[in-house]
Amino acid sequence: MSEHPTDSSRATPDAAPASYYQRHVFFCLNERSNGEDSCAHHRAQEGFERCKAQVKAAGLAGPGQVRVNKAGCLDRCAGGPVAVVYPEAVWYTYVDASDIDEIVASHLKNGQVVERLLTPAHLGR
Ligand code: FES
Repeated sequence: MSEHPTDSSRATPDAAPASYYQRHVFFCLNERSNGEDSCAHHRAQEGFERCKAQVKAAGLAGPGQVRVNKAGCLDRCAGGPVAVVYPEAVWYTYVDASDIDEIVASHLKNGQVVERLLTPAHLGR
């Protein structure tokens, strides 16, 4: 079998592929209807919408930059509402719009983690 002549990844097998987004943010928007607590009960939708709007307003949205996506339960409900930023795998617990604005301005724009909003490491489901 011959290799495809335009498959450049085979020419440099040790090179990491370029990431389509520089950073990818996932917001848990899960809502439980069985009475258990969930991120949706802590204004997660507002946080998600605020982040998308702020990323767009800052000119950070799009390929090579930042993508903000909805997610289901990320299994860290005890720290909710939560959002996680990749590739750094930094977990945030936010409360209000000013927290979201700080994450956008500091981490998503300048790569500086917002230490005060980190989800405590021991908090899972
Ligand atoms: S409900 Fe949000 S992490 Fe589980």
